[in-house]
Amino acid sequence: MAKIGNIDVGEFPLLLAPMEDVSDPPFRALCKEHGADVVYTEFISSEGLIRDAAKSVMKLDIYEKERPVGIQIFGANLESMLQSVEIVEKSGPDIIDINFGCPVKKVVSKGAGAGILKDIPLMVSLTEAMVKHTKLPVTVKTRLGWDSDSIKIVEVAERLQDVGAAAISIHGRTRVQMYKGEANWTPISEVKNNPRMHIPIFGNGDVDTPEKAMEMRDKFGLDGAMIGRASIGYPWFFREVKHFFETGKHLAPPSLEERIDAARRHLQMAIDWKGEKLGVFETRRHYTNYFKGIPHFKEYRQKMATSDDAADVFAAFDEVERDFAGYEFA
Ligand SMILES: Cc1cc2nc3c(=O)[nH]c(=O)nc-3n(C[C@H](O)[C@H](O)[C@H](O)COP(=O)(O)O)c2cc1C
Repeated sequence: MAKIGNIDVGEFPLLLAPMEDVSDPPFRALCKEHGADVVYTEFISSEGLIRDAAKSVMKLDIYEKERPVGIQIFGANLESMLQSVEIVEKSGPDIIDINFGCPVKKVVSKGAGAGILKDIPLMVSLTEAMVKHTKLPVTVKTRLGWDSDSIKIVEVAERLQDVGAAAISIHGRTRVQMYKGEANWTPISEVKNNPRMHIPIFGNGDVDTPEKAMEMRDKFGLDGAMIGRASIGYPWFFREVKHFFETGKHLAPPSLEERIDAARRHLQMAIDWKGEKLGVFETRRHYTNYFKGIPHFKEYRQKMATSDDAADVFAAFDEVERDFAGYEFA
């Protein structure tokens, strides 16, 4: 049974990865409903939070039904990170996560995200200060190292544990790799197999089939799997993995009705959360993904993705329900 601080997250938990513009409250709620054990917000800038930037602050919203939920923050300045911990706490998350893995230039150039992999002492001292500054469990998400010549993740993980990190999620790529090549889970299992480690080590990178999740558990011996891209447009992935673990068989893909229901609820939750205009606009690419595989769908997708009016989008869902009734997804 894995525990993040005092939070029991079950045997081999499946975690929804933090994903910018994807892991918003409606999407997290759907993933939770379909089997995600822990969900994380997208990364939130500590500098944005302390400046009270509206966009950053809105990302702090969480629903009761998605718990346990972690809010992820990034930054490289100690003072800003500590101040943002206080702001984040007011939203009542269960976990605070630090992003030490984002590879994009605008983050890395400020020494944040994966940029910190070039300054391990700072990574450790920031983590320590944040752990001391909050009663919430602090988790870390990181990569194997800066580049293939600087993979010291076994030592780094041990130091993060020693200063109080409650769990570590490791993406099996270096910063230099960005998203290229295949994720390498071997160094992650070396972290787990270090006899000094006692906190959960979650594996991340390329889990896109139930078999891969099982491999992460049985062959690599990790404590849980963090899942990102496989869930985009497909929140059912979590339940499919769980079904496979329980039965050794693949669950049939969700029916058209289930997909329509998810799209309707996703849109409604987004409207309730952000208002009609933003709700319709910002969730377009999610719910159109739910229908991937239906042939000749362009006309319907266009209706869903171009209207600013929620009523038109709901009407498009009704049309899909009517026109493709009984469609069997592969
Ligand atoms: C669209 C997108 C946005 C992402 N945003 C974040 C983020 O905000 N914070 C973070 O730690 N990682 C972020 N990531 C990285 C993922 O959390 C994850 O580490 C990566 O996608 C590898 O896992 P996967 O192969 O299961 O997708 C993002 C990835 C994608 C595809």
